Amino acid sequence: MTTQAQPAKASGEFSIGGKLPVTRLGYGTMQLPGPGVWGEPKDPDEAVRVLRRVVDLGVNLLDTADAYGPAVAEPLIKKALHPYPADLVIATKVGHTRQGPGQWAPVGRPEYLRQQTELSLRFLGLEQIPLMQLHRIDPTVPLEDQVGELARLREEGKIRFIGLSEVTVAQLRAAAEITPIATVQNLYNLANRSAEELLDYSAANGIGFIPWFPLATGQLAKPGSPLAALAAQRGASPSQLALAWLLHRSPVMLPIPGTASIAHLEDNVAAAGIALSEREYAALEDAVR
Ligand SMILES: NC(=O)c1ccc[n+]([C@@H]2O[C@H](COP(=O)([O-])OP(=O)(O)OC[C@H]3O[C@@H](n4cnc5c(N)ncnc54)[C@H](OP(=O)(O)O)[C@@H]3O)[C@@H](O)[C@H]2O)c1
Repeated sequence: MTTQAQPAKASGEFSIGGKLPVTRLGYGTMQLPGPGVWGEPKDPDEAVRVLRRVVDLGVNLLDTADAYGPAVAEPLIKKALHPYPADLVIATKVGHTRQGPGQWAPVGRPEYLRQQTELSLRFLGLEQIPLMQLHRIDPTVPLEDQVGELARLREEGKIRFIGLSEVTVAQLRAAAEITPIATVQNLYNLANRSAEELLDYSAANGIGFIPWFPLATGQLAKPGSPLAALAAQRGASPSQLALAWLLHRSPVMLPIPGTASIAHLEDNVAAAGIALSEREYAALEDAVR
């Protein structure tokens, strides 16, 4: 398949855990459930169409979580895409619970992580989850119990690779002493680079870095974006420049922009083909200072 037919491929490849290749530009499913990431999508048929278009465009890394809905995004993925293309990598998460729209609370007790993994396998129709991420470290449960349970699930073949989400370098190092960690997922975008140290550590250690809120929840993409003038000069959209900046920033960067709109999805995926010069890269940083 050419990059013209599957534009996401132009973002290049990263191998999760050195063994599981993904296109670097992925897709995040958190925008698919209802408002506050709660309940069914406004238009479930459109959500299915978006997911099918994701794969048509050559994206093969889907980020999701049992907590999206909860139990809405994962079943939607199954409905839209099962039986899955052989190269599709579904990255899901465990350890976050939901009490209502916009409400989130970590629960990292091993028996809960195990139950949630079993449910994700069922919701997704998989025998093994390619990448399971600990959604949050629960501060009330010892880290070795949380990461240790994921390691046991991997030994049992229920998950293939383990990732972490919203961690410090110290937490990543502590978890990596318990079991190999293949990816981390932290808030990171052109306008919020507080995870810079974690990104550099990940790059030095071959760990995939999945930036969440790559578009600053759409702030960098919308009309009036600080990137609007540069986007007009370049003949691109602000969203494309925000994503091209991330892809340029590091070879371990795996952005997962989220959208419930096919037009926005197509706009975002076209960012894979935008190569920035060092001058353009620096100008984008200046634009958000
Ligand atoms: N690990 C964690 O704790 C964590 C936390 C948050 C998110 N995540 C993951 O990260 C993914 C990305 O985060 P996100 O989806 O919240 O934020 P985002 O990708 O930074 O931005 C999504 C927002 O931007 C809008 N948008 C997307 N593309 C656009 C375009 N081309 N033009 C204009 N607007 C556009 C979307 O609205 P439309 O739907 O209208 O396009 C949506 O409001 C999530 O989907 C989820 O998988 C993980």
